[in-house]
Amino acid sequence: MGDPTTQSNYQQISTKHFSLDWSIDFHEKVIKGSITHELTVHKSDLDEVILDTWDVVIKRVHIDGESCDAQYTLGEKHEVMGSALHITLPAGLQAGSSVKVTIEYHTTEPGCKALQWIDKAQTHGKTHPYLFSQCQPIYARGLLPCQGKFHTPSVKTTYEAKITSALPALMSAIRVSPPPEGPAHDGRIIGQDEVTYLYNQPVPIPSYLIAIASGNLCYRAFEQPKGKDWTSGVWAEPGLIDDAWWEFKEDTTRFLAAEEEITMPYQFGVFDLLVLPPSFPYGGMENACLTFVTPTLLTGDRTLVDVVVHEMTHSYFGNGVTHADASHFWLNEGWTTYIERLLQQILHSPAHRGFYFLIGSKMLYDDLQFYEQRNKKYQKLQIEFERGENPDDAYSGVPYEKGANFILHIERTLGGLDVFLPYVKDYVKTFMGKSITTEQWREHLFAYYTKYGGEDKVEALKSIDWDAWLFGTGVTLPVPMEYDMTLAQRSYTLAEKWSKAKNTSEFSVADIIVFLERLQSFDPLPVAHVDHLGDLYGLVNSPNAEIRLRFYQVALLDPKSAKSEQYATAALNWVVGGEDGMVKGRMKFCRPIFRAVFAVNKAMAQDKYQEHKSSYHPIARDLIEQDIEITKARGNDV
Ligand code: BES
Ligand code: ZN
Repeated sequence: MGDPTTQSNYQQISTKHFSLDWSIDFHEKVIKGSITHELTVHKSDLDEVILDTWDVVIKRVHIDGESCDAQYTLGEKHEVMGSALHITLPAGLQAGSSVKVTIEYHTTEPGCKALQWIDKAQTHGKTHPYLFSQCQPIYARGLLPCQGKFHTPSVKTTYEAKITSALPALMSAIRVSPPPEGPAHDGRIIGQDEVTYLYNQPVPIPSYLIAIASGNLCYRAFEQPKGKDWTSGVWAEPGLIDDAWWEFKEDTTRFLAAEEEITMPYQFGVFDLLVLPPSFPYGGMENACLTFVTPTLLTGDRTLVDVVVHEMTHSYFGNGVTHADASHFWLNEGWTTYIERLLQQILHSPAHRGFYFLIGSKMLYDDLQFYEQRNKKYQKLQIEFERGENPDDAYSGVPYEKGANFILHIERTLGGLDVFLPYVKDYVKTFMGKSITTEQWREHLFAYYTKYGGEDKVEALKSIDWDAWLFGTGVTLPVPMEYDMTLAQRSYTLAEKWSKAKNTSEFSVADIIVFLERLQSFDPLPVAHVDHLGDLYGLVNSPNAEIRLRFYQVALLDPKSAKSEQYATAALNWVVGGEDGMVKGRMKFCRPIFRAVFAVNKAMAQDKYQEHKSSYHPIARDLIEQDIEITKARGNDV
């Protein structure tokens, strides 16, 4: 079957290069201009080229070398695939010849699902609007009329672009002019002066990797790693640029260098990051040369850089070796997830790899469970899509996690990383620049181990239940997987404690007393814990004096804590009877409370006592006064 998401005649004629001439209109919220397709004809005497579009307005179509404009019609809109644009070709075109078709058009708003126009109030700086695109999986057709074979992942195209905008404009390509390291917006007034930006993408890419962004954006380069011919840096709004640079400057180049070690040299020349506004719908998107990331990665502690590692890994698995169509999407995400975690192992430790697999497995089981009721087809790794079915309906953790576990299972079945890593290199080298199906991947795997691995490796591969992994449904993996759990232990122990602690209904008063006394044998709890403890178990207002006493002892264990005065006030109020009109004259209760409060604030204990002295029995008075140094010390102390 052909690509299930296109109406174009890509098997008869296909794009090899295209040029864009666009201007961005922030007032109208449209991109206007033209696209020129350089097409190669595969079938002689073809009468039309059919392109996919979605809610675009076509103004004029022209074919290079023709004196009149070309005839065209726009078909009825399909709810997923959009409207087919039929363009009549000149008679007599022969297979192998080329034809250049220019379409003048503009995008629409609302309607174009590839673009989001952000009002200035929704940006970080609040001074300028912001525009960004998201083409994966099938939204490029709303940004540019494009053709099945070029639109689908299976064929890759080079492109160049001329973009005019009043705000700095970025594309998924190499900037030709003005230079990125020059003054922002070529030194002109941002938001007012129009500047024309030129871009070139010399490496053929699938159309889902086309991207554009424009806003008040500036650039800061990461330190150029030694001996590398690629550059890397980050784009963000001016108010975020320093934080963004700090967040990513250590790991981006370090991980990309490690990635090159296990695969091959980076081929796109530039690996830049762009920090998007908060409405960006993904964690990251691996647009060619320019990975888009959510601003939620800017945590100030570099803990979420795994998303950047994931996107850079797509430079090989996805942008380099591409899935042929939506059915094989798992080749992109499964391989990327597997390699991303391998890098964690190489740069951190094997325990880190296990930790990430463990975290992923929760998502996998949740998603498998979700599809158990809705659509078991989407539990499969390789999915048969119906014509016109939306690949976004199948988007879940399954291709990522089932895919990564499948590769991990193959790695282990073959005997581990020493045996597997040379194969990974060969896989990338063999298919770099191409688009492949799951079957092509599997054939190469068998061919590689037949050649380099010998009999036992081929037998090992044959022992794998391929059907179960690729086409199996259900809520578990075909093989139960074990991961290095070292890093998970602490969290597991803590979770177990919380789980056990959640319910005190079967706790007797004696249990709670023992619990509160035991707590006093440890270091004082942090204030937030004390507050929570008091609320959760109803200790703060327990009518049981035995419990109340112990709770205040726990709360006042650290006399210097931020809330000790507050708890001291509450405890005093309780013992003098401020709460229920009943003084706690029993010395078992009043003496320890006065003593504990005295340790927090001497005057507070003494003053309260003086105020309520008459409520206490003379025997108690004597002892409390000794406890809180009333007779001898009061006068001197203050
Ligand atoms: N290419 C995907 C995002 C995507 C997939 C967009 C399919 C549209 C259709 C990207 O690489 C990705 O996987 N992002 C993840 C990152 C995470 C797995 C580290 C995300 O956004 O959550
Ligand atoms: Zn991904």
